[in-house]
Amino acid sequence: PDRAVAAMARQEPASLAELNRIILAADPLVPGATKAVLGEGPEGAAIAIVGEQPGDQEDLEGRPFVGPAGQLLTRALEEAGIERGGAYLTNAVKHFKFAARGKRRLHQSPTAGEVKHYRWWLMKELGFVRPRLVVALGATAALALTGRSVSVLRERGPMRFCRTGSEGWDGFVTVHPSYLLRLPAGDGAEQACRDFVADLRQARGMVE
Ligand code: URA
Repeated sequence: PDRAVAAMARQEPASLAELNRIILAADPLVPGATKAVLGEGPEGAAIAIVGEQPGDQEDLEGRPFVGPAGQLLTRALEEAGIERGGAYLTNAVKHFKFAARGKRRLHQSPTAGEVKHYRWWLMKELGFVRPRLVVALGATAALALTGRSVSVLRERGPMRFCRTGSEGWDGFVTVHPSYLLRLPAGDGAEQACRDFVADLRQARGMVE
C-alpha cells in the first residue's frame, strides 16, 4: 500500500476535484467498503471537521456524517451556532472498515497503519480547502492530523496541527460523537454532550 500511496502522491492533483477523482479510483485498503466517502462542503470553509471513517450509512449513501453519529454532530453544530452546510466535513480514513456479523456490518477501528495510508489524501484535501481551523473529532482524526497518538480527554482544546516544517493548521481537538452515543444514559452523558457543544462553540469563536 505504501508504494501505491507514493504513486498517487506523484500525480500531484491540481484541484480538489482532481484529488477526489484519484480517491474514487483508488482501491480501498480495507476490503468490502462500497465506495470512498469524499469530504463535503465548500472550498474555503472557515472550519473543517475531520472524523474517523465513514460508517455503515455513510458507506451506503456515499456522504459523510449521515448516520447516528452524524446526526448527533449536526445537532451539536446547530446548537453551537455553526452552519453544517458552511463547514467542510471529511474523514481521516475514506472507506468504511467493518466485520460482517450476519447481515450486520460492525464498525472496526482503523489501525495506525491504515490512518497513515490515508493521511496523504487528507493533507492534500485540507490544502485545497484551506480552512482557518481544523476540528479533529476523536483520537483517529487527531492521530491523522498530528502524526502522534493524542489523548483526547486530556488534550482536548486548541492545538496546532503540523504538516511539514512550519506548514499546518490551527486546530481543535474534541471527542467523537460516537463516543457520546456509547455513554450510558444519565447525567454524565448529558454533561458530556454539553461539553461537546461548548467545544464546538469555542472552535467557532476561534474563526470569528
Ligand atoms: N463517523 C465518522 O467519523 N465519520 C462519518 O462520516 C460518520 C461517522
